[in-house]
Amino acid sequence: MDRISIKGGKSLHGTIPISGAKNATLPLMIASLLTEDTLILENVPHLADVVQLQRILNNHGVDVMLSGKRSGDGENKGQTVKISAEKIVDTTAPYELVSKMRASFWVIAPLVARMGEARVSLPGGCAIGTRPVDLLIMALERLGVQIEIEAGYAIARAPKGLKGGEIVFPKVTVGGTHVALMAASLADGTTVIENAAREPEIVDVADCLNKMGARISGAGTTQIVVEGVAKLGPARHSVLPDRIETGTYAMAVAMTGGDVLLENARPELLQSALDVLGQVGATVTATNEGVRVTRNGAGLAPVEVTTEPFPGFPTDLQAQLMALMTRARGTSRITETIFENRFMHVQELARLGARISLDGQTAMIEGVDRLKGAPVMATDLRASVSLVIAALAAEGETIVNRVYHLDRGFERLEDKLSRCGAEVERITG
Ligand code: EPZ
Repeated sequence: MDRISIKGGKSLHGTIPISGAKNATLPLMIASLLTEDTLILENVPHLADVVQLQRILNNHGVDVMLSGKRSGDGENKGQTVKISAEKIVDTTAPYELVSKMRASFWVIAPLVARMGEARVSLPGGCAIGTRPVDLLIMALERLGVQIEIEAGYAIARAPKGLKGGEIVFPKVTVGGTHVALMAASLADGTTVIENAAREPEIVDVADCLNKMGARISGAGTTQIVVEGVAKLGPARHSVLPDRIETGTYAMAVAMTGGDVLLENARPELLQSALDVLGQVGATVTATNEGVRVTRNGAGLAPVEVTTEPFPGFPTDLQAQLMALMTRARGTSRITETIFENRFMHVQELARLGARISLDGQTAMIEGVDRLKGAPVMATDLRASVSLVIAALAAEGETIVNRVYHLDRGFERLEDKLSRCGAEVERITG
């Protein structure tokens, strides 16, 4: 299994290209199941999760073509993916495939909307909390889908097609909103989604669905209205930049000091996190090319932050901020409100010398003068990358084990960091 070696203490200088967003790419690829025509996605990141979803779509009979680079394309360009679900040969998504990636459960929506049936394995537990799918099932039921749970599978049936309806989410759910949007697009009549997630990835997927012929309005607000259509058609769509990757590298620069342009980043996608970085003591500037982050000399100020659905501070940046605050001058507090068990990085950060105590859903981080390298590992991708951030500022060598977590969500991480002066190396095998 690959590991990453990081020798800390170098500041970061240069340019880091920001890739297409993982959490938009996955639902966009799944949305291809809604049409027999070809969906062309551009700026798709090279990630293990994309390859895994390709396997899942192949199993339904979907053709996924990853095109090579065109001449003149830089090596940093995302890939173009052509997806054609002309014939769906199998409406079952088996346990072996779904258990590897939670978002693959979302195929249930386009399958039942287009084919009238779907049999999808329940995704099961996850390292960051229980993560149930009750709200996704509720949303489909509101559109007339009958769902039974049998032997670990959700079996969805709608022989006469879906009917538009009112879906009121009792809590904000990104996956629930994606599922509702996809299913409602092919339902008969109008669907109103209340308390919808407002994440930029929802807006990106809604934009793409509209290019395919859907009639969705209000994406990005708490109320989304979908007028169902009988069929969706072909489209070409470029995936929006990854706000979590942007925030992660911005925190890495705040941690090490330096001056880095996060190329293609869009500041409005992560304003709350950039505001926090400003409080911490980094300088964040929007430029024509992206977002520039600098920090020179001065120490880091502690902060109090609570994770919230968009536009609040994202849970997917919580671990990275915690790593940064291990070096602040004073005590920070970070409260996690989205997932009940997303503090797996605390113990590993402690191995590098961090002082963190937990009180329920709140972590108190007492800044220390220095961190020291050690072997570490983590159980999800954001936790893994938080260890990378801490390691960049630690004395000596840190070995991050279980790199496959990083490969699920960060494209060419070691390459992007080492080009800016970090001593980061992948050890294969
Ligand atoms: C998406 O997960 C993201 N995944 C997650 O990113 C992200 O952390 C999360 O949204 C929150 O922003 C993708 O986009 C592929 P939710 P999702 O439904 O959709 C509860 C990463 O690191 N809930 O918004 O699964 C749930 O337990 C990942 O890239 C129910 O109770 O998250 C949680 O407490 C990890 N019942 C809250 O809602 C349900 O049926 C929000 O979850 C569904 C969710």
